[in-house]
Amino acid sequence: MKRVLKVTGMVLVFLILLITLLLAYVYTASTSRMNADFHIEMAQLNVPTDSLSIARGKYLFTIRGCIDCHGEDLGGKVFVEDPGIGFFYGTNLTTGVQGIGTTYSNEDIDRAIRHAVKKNGKPVRFMPSMDWAHFSDSDIAELIAYIRSVPPVNSDFPPIKVGPLGRALFLAGEFPLLHAELIDHDMQRPATIVEEVSIEYGSYVTATCMGCHGNSLTGGPIPGTPPDWPPASNITPDPVNGLGTWTEEDFFRAMREGKRPDGSDISPIMPWIYTREMNDTEISAIWTYLRSLDVVTTSELITD
Ligand code: HEC
Ligand code: HEC
Repeated sequence: MKRVLKVTGMVLVFLILLITLLLAYVYTASTSRMNADFHIEMAQLNVPTDSLSIARGKYLFTIRGCIDCHGEDLGGKVFVEDPGIGFFYGTNLTTGVQGIGTTYSNEDIDRAIRHAVKKNGKPVRFMPSMDWAHFSDSDIAELIAYIRSVPPVNSDFPPIKVGPLGRALFLAGEFPLLHAELIDHDMQRPATIVEEVSIEYGSYVTATCMGCHGNSLTGGPIPGTPPDWPPASNITPDPVNGLGTWTEEDFFRAMREGKRPDGSDISPIMPWIYTREMNDTEISAIWTYLRSLDVVTTSELITD
């Protein structure tokens, strides 16, 4: 009996030691990547101040999902509070207490949005900049025009924390925590892009769906989100798993009312409360682009 206890005790001590070592590794390795330095020179942007551009910036801020994490008043918003994944909120973007509005230049804001790099050269955490790294200069300028126009909001958030599971998933390549590591920083961004019903414009807009629906738009679990979130749907023209049998009218209804063709509700995790603000040209352009994609069957995905 004593012997059994002794062995069990040794196994326990060994296990505790192993877990401690593992945790130490996870914390050191992830912290070192979060502290990496990125040097990104930004070209000067021409930020407009007229009311039309500000209104268009507000429209972009809404439909591109910024509100989701930065709040209606841009004062910041907690969007993940999970002991494993971490504590995350979008920064206060105004000129109030804790806001970046007073210390960030237009170029600093641009660097954060399109490159996921902060003013101090450190990578921005969690913000899915891959979705808008390709934005045109004029879209960014209008977004900034709007950010500059809002009244100050004071906030009092504790620091962002990346939890042990968030760090482990990040190291395992399952959680894209630092988009600065993923973005092609030398990519040529267009000065402007024509807003029209075309595959080109559709592809430009649909890039903002990929953070959740995946680069191939075939859906699946959304990286870094709590387990009770539904997986994103396959939105390719796959007739079995995707939108193959949908009409453009069905697609408009999903984007505007959050309903499928059979009348069932689409979960609010799909941000249709924002996509419903998209104008007809954008929704039609997305539809045109989605229809142009190849059908990827599930069996191809499994062998992938
Ligand atoms: C999924 C949530 C999410 C969305 C969507 C999002 N952000 Fe953020 N954003 C964050 C988080 C989290 C931070 C703070 C990250 C940090 O401090 O490491 C942040 C920080 C920022 C910063 C400041 C970065 C810095 O240097 O500290 C700017 C500017 C910004 N976001 C603009 C935007 C704009 C514009 C959009 C829409 C195009 C947007 N964000 C969409 C989560 C989000
Ligand atoms: C924040 C993550 C997120 C973003 C961003 C997002 N979606 Fe979704 N989407 C989802 C999730 C999750 C579902 C599945 C909802 C459910 O199961 O009820 C979904 C479902 C859908 C559906 C319904 C399909 C079906 O039959 O279930 C369509 C259509 C759709 N998304 C289109 C889009 C388009 C187009 C964009 C970009 C403009 C987009 N989504 C952006 C998360 C997202």
